[in-house]
Amino acid sequence: MRGPRRAGADDSLSASFGPSARAPSSLSNMQRRALESLEPGPMSLGMAQVQAALDAAVRKARRNDAGQPADYIPQLASVDVEATSAGVLQCDGARVLAGDAETHRFSFQSSAKLVTLIGLLEERGPVEVFATVGSEPSGDNFASLARLETHGPLPPNPLVNAGAIALCGQLAGSVDRRIDWIHRWAERLYGTRLPIDEAVRESERATADRNRAIAYFLKHNGILTGSVDETLHVYFSLCALTGGIAEACRLPALLANGGVVPGGRDRVLSKRTVAITVAIMATCGMYNESGNYLVATGMPAKSGVSGVIVAVAPGRAGVAVASPRLNDKGGSVRGHIMLRELSRQLGWHFALADHHDTEDRTSNEPGPPDSR
Ligand code: DON
Repeated sequence: MRGPRRAGADDSLSASFGPSARAPSSLSNMQRRALESLEPGPMSLGMAQVQAALDAAVRKARRNDAGQPADYIPQLASVDVEATSAGVLQCDGARVLAGDAETHRFSFQSSAKLVTLIGLLEERGPVEVFATVGSEPSGDNFASLARLETHGPLPPNPLVNAGAIALCGQLAGSVDRRIDWIHRWAERLYGTRLPIDEAVRESERATADRNRAIAYFLKHNGILTGSVDETLHVYFSLCALTGGIAEACRLPALLANGGVVPGGRDRVLSKRTVAITVAIMATCGMYNESGNYLVATGMPAKSGVSGVIVAVAPGRAGVAVASPRLNDKGGSVRGHIMLRELSRQLGWHFALADHHDTEDRTSNEPGPPDSR
């Protein structure tokens, strides 16, 4: 998020597909190598296998100390930069945690933008939501004002700051009621009530000139109709929702399981909301590194500047990884490494998930369950 990138910032396509790959001139070679090295994994994996992959991913990530924690919100720079945690909640309800999962707590920051998007999609439907925000990747930094000027009046998508602030402006009632609404939806999605970290919220409020500029721009464009200060207070509260990796992986697991509680039968979200949300995560969730990230992992995701990334392996699992040092796009350097490693080890690239080829047809022939 500041300064030149250091050697060893292991977040490039070449890092994903092998040490000899070099972007961009050998892109097709890289893709060939990727297809050679990636294999689809079975739909449900044993916990020991997932635990081993997660532990290996954490070990690999810990060898990298590139990047810096976000410092434009001072409270975010005062954390333990070595903290590294990862979690997987499979669709069958099996959960594994790794690294500092027991102790590492963080504010969910932009990963919580999914809460307002999902809640509003469920309550008001896509027609109303997409009257306020677009659904196109911006190609810009998450706090950019540029597209509001050139492509306005709508923010490009719900996951950049402008889009999330615009959606916070759509919540009804007093500030307290709007924060209550966020708490209720967060509890539904993360499976437990998450506290708001007051120090983080205040730290962001005190340094939020860029978000204030975005909000005034939205108001000028007629997208935000209420008070800028109140809307931003709601937005900062959303970003300051706080928990650990065990809570963070519940939301992507719900999406991976089509809106049904992992390991249960209760439907929490409609299939329509799941499809829209995961598609927008795939195209916009990692801002101006969404394309590179998705090619490398095939797991639609959403990042936050505290260093958390939540990712969806559709039909398989929700993943959350966290470590505070960021690359220059606001994504966790170690988080990227862990997600690439998991995708590769477990075969969770979405494009490789369900191939109805000869081998699959053969393996679907009736037989004892342990014969495959
Ligand atoms: O608006 C902000 O600056 C933060 N509260 C959230 C930004 C964020 O997490 C961007 N994601 N990587």
